Amino acid sequence: MSELDYGPLRHLTGVWRGDKGQDKSPEPDGVEENAYTETMRFTPAGDVDNAETQELVAVHYHLDVHRIRDGKMIHNQTGYWIWDADSGLIMHDFVIPRAVAVVAGGEYRGETDALGNFVFEVAAGQGHPEWQIAQSPFMIKNALTTAFEQRFVSGAEHLAYRQTTLVDIYGRKSFEHTDENELSRVE
Ligand code: HEM
Repeated sequence: MSELDYGPLRHLTGVWRGDKGQDKSPEPDGVEENAYTETMRFTPAGDVDNAETQELVAVHYHLDVHRIRDGKMIHNQTGYWIWDADSGLIMHDFVIPRAVAVVAGGEYRGETDALGNFVFEVAAGQGHPEWQIAQSPFMIKNALTTAFEQRFVSGAEHLAYRQTTLVDIYGRKSFEHTDENELSRVE
């Protein structure tokens, strides 16, 4: 049996922790800022064929985020990172427990940082019509996510990301809900 080639996703499998998280999220009267800790758990999800043409490999993950000030869980997310070697496409589909689902994508052409870590970017929503965001009727009416963009850095012992989620909320358009963190491998 031959080993699957996970391409730029090959370092992800394992458990990662980081305590340098910085969140800016919407409040009725402005912005809430949260320093946070985060745990991500990645497991291989194997290969997938779509319509007998598209051959993918995927890694599943679950992450949780706790506010450092009071230990409260302020974010929870699960999804897949997916690699299509033939077309050089990276996809990231995930759900969060606000009834919002994102299918983001981007091209990967071998980009690395100065340390040789893989660097990939995905986006969905406004400005990226082929990559979509689905959400509940309540969220569409009251807290509409219009765009998601993420930059991910993945190495053998180092993982980092920064992301911007645009939200129409509290009568304001395109609130920039931003999150970033750096994590190290713990398993
Ligand atoms: C590390 C990642 C994230 C953290 C720490 C985080 C944290 C938060 C926090 C603290 C709030 C304010 C909650 C409140 O006041 O009730 C919030 C609101 C929100 N977040 Fe996130 N979030 C993250 C990622 C995301 C992502 C990826 C999405 C969507 C794709 C998202 C969508 C929203 C929406 C739509 C709201 C507005 C709902 C509301 O405030 O009532 N968030 N987030």
